[in-house]
Amino acid sequence: MRRNSEGQSKKYKSVRWLPSLSIIIFTLTPFFLLMFSSGIYAASPQTNYLLYCSGCHRVNGEGKPPNVPTLISELGRMLSVQEMRSYLVRIPGVLQAPLSDENLAGVVNWVLREFNSDTLPDNFQDFTAGEVTAARKNALLDPIKYRAEYWKAYEI
Ligand code: HEC
Repeated sequence: MRRNSEGQSKKYKSVRWLPSLSIIIFTLTPFFLLMFSSGIYAASPQTNYLLYCSGCHRVNGEGKPPNVPTLISELGRMLSVQEMRSYLVRIPGVLQAPLSDENLAGVVNWVLREFNSDTLPDNFQDFTAGEVTAARKNALLDPIKYRAEYWKAYEI
């Protein structure tokens, strides 16, 4: 009996710090989110790619076709069609990254130069923060349909 009640109170003590820990985490989370999304914590485009895109598109950009499209070579070719430039930043999955407009433009430019240098048009001009601002107000409801209309359907 005695041993039993001691054991219980020990167990209770060991989790007493949990509420304070959750309060600390709750208080700090918005601060960290702000740091990442604003310019205070300026991560390189490559780091942002690794943080916000590589989970689905993989570190080397190959994706997992047919579910997640590759980001290699195909995007450079797309830029030969005018309507496909805005497409690259109007995809909801891209816009959802918790990055400022400037940093998101930086990631897309990095993806284009890093994975599409063989197909990128010579006259390619970097995406600007302003283009991302406009895209965020005009996200595509159905990116797959838009892509099939102006480019081609995903290969199965
Ligand atoms: C949760 C998984 C996921 C994440 C995270 C993600 N994507 Fe995607 N991405 C997709 C899927 C799935 C598609 C196919 C279109 C769709 O379903 O929205 C796609 C489509 C794309 C396309 C269009 C490719 C094509 O061939 O049409 C680009 C460009 C792209 N993503 C870039 C990015 C970038 C840049 C990031 C990071 C900021 C990112 N994605 C984050 C899953 C993801």
